[in-house]
Amino acid sequence: MADSNVYPPGPDFVRGAHVKGMEGYRELYRRAAENPEEFWGALAEQELFWFKKWHHVFEWNPPDVKWFAGGQTNVCYNCVDRHLDTARKNKVAILWEGEPGDQRQISYQELHRLVSRFANVLKGRGLKTGDRAVIYMGMVPELPVALLACARLGIIHSVVFGGFSAEALKARIQDLEAQVVITCDGAWRRGKEVPLKSAVDEALIECPAVRDVIVLRRTGGAVEMREGRDHWWHELDEGASENCPAEPLDSEQPLYVLYTSGTTGKPKGIVHTTAGYLLQCVMTMKWVFDLREEDTYWCTADIGWVTGHSYIVYGPLAAGATAVMYEGAPDFPQPDRFWRLIEKYRVSIFYTSPTAIRSFIRQGDQWPNGHDMSSLRLLGSVGEPINPAAWEWYYKTIGKERCPIVDTWWQTETGAILIAPMPGAVPLKPGSASLPLPGILPEVVDLSGKTRETGQEGYLVIRRPWPSMARTLWRDPERYRSQYWERIHGSYMTGDAARMDQDGYFWILGRVDDVMNVSGHRLSTMEVESALVRHPAVAEAAVVGKPHEITGQAVACFVTLKKGSWDRPKLAEELRKWVAHEIGGFAKPEQIRFADALPKTRSGKIMRRLLREIVTANTVTGDVTTLEDLSVVTQLSSQADED
Ligand code: WT7
Repeated sequence: MADSNVYPPGPDFVRGAHVKGMEGYRELYRRAAENPEEFWGALAEQELFWFKKWHHVFEWNPPDVKWFAGGQTNVCYNCVDRHLDTARKNKVAILWEGEPGDQRQISYQELHRLVSRFANVLKGRGLKTGDRAVIYMGMVPELPVALLACARLGIIHSVVFGGFSAEALKARIQDLEAQVVITCDGAWRRGKEVPLKSAVDEALIECPAVRDVIVLRRTGGAVEMREGRDHWWHELDEGASENCPAEPLDSEQPLYVLYTSGTTGKPKGIVHTTAGYLLQCVMTMKWVFDLREEDTYWCTADIGWVTGHSYIVYGPLAAGATAVMYEGAPDFPQPDRFWRLIEKYRVSIFYTSPTAIRSFIRQGDQWPNGHDMSSLRLLGSVGEPINPAAWEWYYKTIGKERCPIVDTWWQTETGAILIAPMPGAVPLKPGSASLPLPGILPEVVDLSGKTRETGQEGYLVIRRPWPSMARTLWRDPERYRSQYWERIHGSYMTGDAARMDQDGYFWILGRVDDVMNVSGHRLSTMEVESALVRHPAVAEAAVVGKPHEITGQAVACFVTLKKGSWDRPKLAEELRKWVAHEIGGFAKPEQIRFADALPKTRSGKIMRRLLREIVTANTVTGDVTTLEDLSVVTQLSSQADED
């Protein structure tokens, strides 16, 4: 926190910025805090197209909130149609590159045609406002087209990341009672085909509500098409009309459900709605990414996560941006693929994760140094705390000390960025997400809800509702209330620990619950534990996050086995594969350790704290007086890694 580590915005950047200097930031922040209705009302009027104006800016009956109640708009209309009678009509909306090197440039007019046709395809299958579509695709342009087509009609979409397994996909389709699944034959990843359609087939064995499967041909791999249920995208699309008006939808019409891990084994379906969500996505494109008409903007996330929803699809398109979209792996065919793309498309805004940055550091500076990246003017980071060393590397090696770095803190539940520096205003401190955006009132508190002193650690809460916040959990409003709004009465509980420094900067310290963060992806310890105990050899399992140099955390598992004689090294490998099969490849444990028993308190609760110490330091310190059987700890810590 020393002053030498503070980077004030450069004068050139400030001159062109949407928000100029600390006075600019403070003025906006003050207005939003003092009169949120006026503040958000004026922005909604200015930034969005409305079929019908709202009667109230917000109605707050904790934990229920309505933003722009009584209004009617349409997310797809705002992202596509309204650009068509402006100079943006022939601007490239999506600048796409496939992993094999194929390219597509889709203008706003072309996007309008693609979306309208596909919306008519969905209509033709009998889908209507309020129905649910599960989307399980790779990073191809038809993925945003599918999202936008759903949004056009008020069909609630739920994107399942292509790295999730058939099991995980099935659970989500069932929970949503989706009527349609939209997928691809497969996706390209490091030159190999990831089969998607076959995973859908496996998932659908137990999903009776699904009437139709629409399959985009991407890889050309062999797929089985079930007569009557499965249809090729291109066949349905061929005859579809390009005339499909956007439906006027209520401000609070659910836009999508995105599943994320909670502290139990069951993922939570986070529900986002229409107007407030879109407004905050658009505003943060300006406030945080300082988006200008001429920018070429690239967010490297996958649309399967919230970052891709808000900052590849809805935010950039509503703001009329040119957004780069890349299908494949960052290191294919070589570790410089990202830098190659930045050079080729003259990317000016680049948004990625600390995990990616750390793996670039490891690959060596020769890869970025071989490319002209002088088009860059702003860098972003998201998903996990960025360690100062990675920050400095990003700043120097990628940004050449010219580009501010916006460290953006937010969550699937928050819908949009809540804490991040406005790059033309707020001085940067490596490792801190800095100051809250206008309308956001974060605080660090103790468990009784009392504000912690400056510099003290505590729970990060948000004091007031904001437009893009999750409205509920799909079919589980009770869990929504108890998880987020009842722990600290009347405030939104983020689940993160944080501290605030003397300048009001927020330093996010990580999760306080049983949620791991692996490569910026949220994963619940319980979800992995439930997967492990479904294996016939496993009696009991405990899972903790283990610090990892590249991915932030890695999955470490402690397993007790059922009676029998097991080939342990072989079984450890089998269990790692099992978890990948049950959840998805990104959840594959790094480590499986076997024990005769797990350390538990007298009341039978697994002592995860001890296990965390074992995987971190391989020793146990601190209080073990509530431990049932200490010999278990000794055995676990002395055991060499099985893999
Ligand atoms: C959790 C949310 C937000 C999109 C990606 C992840 C951690 C996120 C930061 C950051 C420190 C961060 C938090 C948060 N996190 N961004 N800039 N600095 N931590 O979304 O899967 O909903 O995870 O990611 O722990 O609670 P998510």
